[in-house]
Formats: sequence, C-alpha cells, structure tokens
Amino acid sequence: MAKIFSVFNQAGGVGKTTLSMNLGYELSQRGKRILLLDFDPQGSLTIFMGLEPESLSATIYDCLMKSYPTSAAILPSLHGMDLLPANIGLGMAEMELVVAPMRESKLKKVLTPILKSYDLILIDCLPSLGMLSYLSLVTSDCVLVPIDCEFKSYRGTDLLLQTVENVKGEANPDLSVFGFVPTKYSKAKTQHKRSLGAMNQYLSMIAPVFEPIPNAIAFADASEQGQPLATYDRRHEALKSIALLADQVCAELNQDLGALAHVQ
Ligand SMILES: Nc1ncnc2c1ncn2[C@@H]1O[C@H](COP(=O)(O)OP(=O)(O)O)[C@@H](O)[C@H]1O
Ligand SMILES: [Mg+2]
Repeated sequence: MAKIFSVFNQAGGVGKTTLSMNLGYELSQRGKRILLLDFDPQGSLTIFMGLEPESLSATIYDCLMKSYPTSAAILPSLHGMDLLPANIGLGMAEMELVVAPMRESKLKKVLTPILKSYDLILIDCLPSLGMLSYLSLVTSDCVLVPIDCEFKSYRGTDLLLQTVENVKGEANPDLSVFGFVPTKYSKAKTQHKRSLGAMNQYLSMIAPVFEPIPNAIAFADASEQGQPLATYDRRHEALKSIALLADQVCAELNQDLGALAHVQ
C-alpha cells in the first residue's frame, strides 16, 4: 500500500520538482514502485520527465474533475517510474474545486484505486497555498519541504507549517512533516551556512532537517534533457545527498512493511 508524500512549499523555484524527480528515481533504483504525480498546472515535472504537457490526451485534471480512470492517465515506466502528468488545464481545477461538492476527497478518490500498485506516491505540489495544495495535503501521509538556502528563505515556513496544522486540525489528523530539505546549498557562501544553521536551530524542533542538496547546475542540465541527474551524470557529487534522503524515506517505507508483517 503506497505512502503518499507531498513535496510542498508555497515558494516557487526552491527545488520541489527537481527533488520529486531525483528522489523518486533513486528510490526506484532501490526497487520501490514509484508514482510521480505532477500537481502543478505549469507541468514542470511532466516536462522534466521528457514529455510535452500540451500533447497529452489525459492528465490528472481529467481524473480529478471528469472521473477519468486513473490507471488510463498514468504514463508507465519513464526512467523506472510511473507518471500521472499535468498541463495548464489543471489551472481550471483550482477554480472549479471552489464550488465542487466533496472536494476534500477528490484526490483521494483518484489515488485509492492505484494505492496497491505503488510503494510511494510523490506529489509535486504547485507553489501556492490554494485549493490544489490543500487537496494534496488532505490526501497525504507526509509532507517533505524543500527550502532554498538563500537569505532567510526559511522564514516562509511559518505560514507553511500553519497550513499543515490547519489541515491536520480539520481534514487529515494523521498528516506529518517528514522533514525539511535545504536546497541549492553552496558551501562557499557564508550566507548559505548561516541559513543552514538557522534551519537546524529552528526547524529541527519540528521535524528532521536533512542533508542539504548542493547547488549544481547539472540538475538543470539533466532536466533540460528530460532525465534525472543520476542518468545524466551518474557520478555527480550531488547524488550523495539525494541518496541520504532516500535512505530516510526507505526506512519510513520499510517500517510500514515491518508493521504489516507483524500484524499478519
Ligand atoms: N540543487 C539545485 N542546484 C541548482 N539548481 C537547482 C537545484 N534544484 C533545482 N534547481 C533549478 O532551480 C530551478 C527551480 O527548480 P524547481 O525544481 O523547478 O523548483 P520548484 O518546483 O520549487 O519551482 C530549476 O531551473 C532547477 O533546475
Ligand atoms: Mg515545481
């Protein structure tokens, strides 16, 4: 039974999509069955995975708003993962959901039929605190929060954590923050070191602050080629921090397997 993780931060450009694809790939290499869900109308994840969003015949929008069968919209076996893609059409859902009945359960309804087929569903959220993000949080077990190491960018996390608390209080009491991932980290920049120090000081009380992902242009180069960094440059230094994060996620997924075995 899949765990569902939202890769979430209302700030744009912090590395959500890059992290979703590269973490998903690393986990798939460890034998985990991964579904990437592009939940951003910009379709960046769909593009990073090497596809042209506007040419797709079915996307998450069709599943969410038109009851299109989920399995029929999934694109299988892209770099060892499956992808439920998005395009600009998903932007309409943001408005349509405002008046939609039973909206809280809409994404859950889309994912329930396929939960058994995966170990992990990674939802690449859009940079907003709107309805689509809300739906993603309502449907998830955990939130993974990438934070840019630029000057005080961790400050926006107050609002983010408040949003998570609101969702926990209302619709999803089991939601937890899995951890924070500092991104685009440059050792050479003293300001980044200070940001990292502050994240460790303030955020580690809430959830683990994981190894920072180094600033590496190769991430952008790889996604431009429509592939994860590991297939683009398999010896790249930055892959080590992705692997350390994957260790933690694997431990979480395996813990559940252990609990299941115990029950049976
Ligand atoms: N660790 C990194 N080092 C350098 N560039 C990065 C890194 N992570 C992401 N990027 C680049 O930053 C930009 C924004 O990343 P993206 O993953 O699209 O962020 P988000 O999904 O939060 O908007 C992209 O051009 C991406 O290639
Ligand atoms: Mg993105």
